[in-house]
Amino acid sequence: MKRLVSMEELSLGDIENLLTRAAAFKNGEKATIDAGHFIVNMFFEPSTRTHYSFEVAERKLGFEVLSFEASESSVTKGETLYDTLLTMQALGVEAAVVRHPDEKFYDELNDLDIAIISGGDGCGEHPSQCLLDLFTIKEQFGSFAGLKVAIAGDILHSRVANSNMRVLKRLGAEIYFAGPKEWFDEESLAYGTYLTMDEAAQQVDVMMLLRVQHERHQNGAIGFQKEDYHERFGLTEKRAQMLKQEAIIMHPSPVNRDVEIADSLVESKQSRIVEQMTNGVFVRMAILETILNGKRKGAEKHVFN
Ligand code: CP
Repeated sequence: MKRLVSMEELSLGDIENLLTRAAAFKNGEKATIDAGHFIVNMFFEPSTRTHYSFEVAERKLGFEVLSFEASESSVTKGETLYDTLLTMQALGVEAAVVRHPDEKFYDELNDLDIAIISGGDGCGEHPSQCLLDLFTIKEQFGSFAGLKVAIAGDILHSRVANSNMRVLKRLGAEIYFAGPKEWFDEESLAYGTYLTMDEAAQQVDVMMLLRVQHERHQNGAIGFQKEDYHERFGLTEKRAQMLKQEAIIMHPSPVNRDVEIADSLVESKQSRIVEQMTNGVFVRMAILETILNGKRKGAEKHVFN
């Protein structure tokens, strides 16, 4: 295989290998790929962190990086995602990082040889964000078994929550959910327990906050005043004082300051939000190198086997 589209396709061994390789990159290990490999970044939804940390990772590894603007491409003439990627493949591009609003957009790309790396599929999954979150947690605590992790906020619309709840449970963490009940699908209770924000703040080792995804709510209306949401479901300064001393605060970003999290806490001592962004580069280097090596070995369908 030659893709990273869902955490469900990775074994725990695959994940361990990626995190180990990312740690090596963070410790200064140099890239190992030859020159002349082309990669394209195709973002059909806005992005800052994912887009540019993939691009930094690609350049550090020595890829030739193509940027793709859908609005200036033949997508505007009706060309499909499949045909666009078939074109990239025909040009000799070996891998594509794709963010797309359609859940499981990659299902229609199975017949292509170009490696697909998802930068997020609608409300589906965000595997590279998930891996960088795992890296950040492991960096802090060393392992996952028995760790108490709260996933709090707009869970229903979050691809980060979707990826993280499943894989963290597989890794032996205890998952707790908090946030508005109307943004919570009870099917998620298969992975953890629902708590109030106060209860979660007192109990957990990792407080993982989620962005209120205005763009995925009907007409952008979330049904809460900003201050009301912050008081009821956000990490307020008062709630942050309930956290264990060694607990960490995470957020995939972008952050709605004073909504999910008090402005003063974003860069606080317990916050790992900036570190998550830094770690994203090393984790994405590990993903790209692993995929390219898998392609080189002629692996079929799953590069992490
Ligand atoms: N965390 C994340 O996916 O951020 P971007 O939307 O800026 O890529």
